Amino acid sequence: MRLLFFLSLIILNLHMVCWPRNTNGTLDIIFYPLSTNPALVIPGGVLEIQLISEKPISKIAVEAVKNNCSVKLFENIPGQTFTPVSRLTFAHPTKTFPELDWRRNWAYRSRQYRRDLVRIQFEVPVNLEEGLYDICVSTDTGSDISERAVYVFKRWPTAYKVCHVTDVHIGKRDAVKAFRSIANAVNQLKPAFVLLTGDNVESASSQEFTEFLSVLDEFKVPTFVVPGNHDSYGWLWKGKADVLRYFGATYYSFSLGCHHYVGIDGATRRFDKFQKQFVENDLNRYQRFQFKCIFNHGFVYRKENNEEWLTSMSKKYKINLYISGHKHRSKIGFIGHTRTLFVITQEAYKCGGSFNVLTIEGNDVKSIESVVVSQL
Ligand SMILES: [Fe+2]
Repeated sequence: MRLLFFLSLIILNLHMVCWPRNTNGTLDIIFYPLSTNPALVIPGGVLEIQLISEKPISKIAVEAVKNNCSVKLFENIPGQTFTPVSRLTFAHPTKTFPELDWRRNWAYRSRQYRRDLVRIQFEVPVNLEEGLYDICVSTDTGSDISERAVYVFKRWPTAYKVCHVTDVHIGKRDAVKAFRSIANAVNQLKPAFVLLTGDNVESASSQEFTEFLSVLDEFKVPTFVVPGNHDSYGWLWKGKADVLRYFGATYYSFSLGCHHYVGIDGATRRFDKFQKQFVENDLNRYQRFQFKCIFNHGFVYRKENNEEWLTSMSKKYKINLYISGHKHRSKIGFIGHTRTLFVITQEAYKCGGSFNVLTIEGNDVKSIESVVVSQL
């Protein structure tokens, strides 16, 4: 009887596997940039767009939209074809392969969920105003809008604020209210961006992901999201299927001028070899940058030697700052014997809304301030 109940739930869930980042928040054609992994650019700089395609794409037009005004960014030359750079799979719920690399796990999945990834790069118009833009893409296979996807800076800031929000746990009592209060407080502080380091939802249900994404859209600044253990282990043990469908890439990096930030996927109990390879290659590529920061859910899985790996990366690549959550308390210190400052922030729903604000000036962390929304 119990088996039948679970089988019916799994069947129900498979029927719910659908495709677009539409009303339910799952991704459609645009895989990057997203509200969970936006692009930071300056006029005259390069903007990259990544699209998921079921069929070959031969027509792409890209527009940036802000306050109902749209600016054409890109239109391809007729006859031009786009070559896929890799393949992705947004898999069925499973607990069998939760730790596989998101760019390679397609090989283990059912054919119908495989998609090609197409990448295009173009120059940002020099007259594009500063601000947060939605990206609209039309192709011959369909169109899609990615909200709050690109932030255009007039020039790269040398002094700026970063807000760190972690362990939002949408699904827990009063978590939505706290997250909304944090969005309001952050909007008044006007940081360059916000880092959200996992346990964004409580039990990885579709409703929780949708709710998280909808409050996320109340932030008027770019928001970078990485997953935590709660985002990938719902009560059906979905692995990373939903993390991919709602958040896009689970690990990635971005730069703000000559400051480099690497988001690591800490959703499972170990960092898989593909991710480790990505982080090492990425840090190697950007090692000349003057300020480097790693952010993820937490390095607490001592059994798997994650802490040792992160410590060695911090030492080797002279990481300035490591930001994480997971512990549900605040802590500041240095990693091992390295000069890497670590900042662990308390859970977002604490005292009706809590987060940290870091001020970065030049190539240093000048201050770290804990904010409790109810005390503002
Ligand atoms: Fe948590």
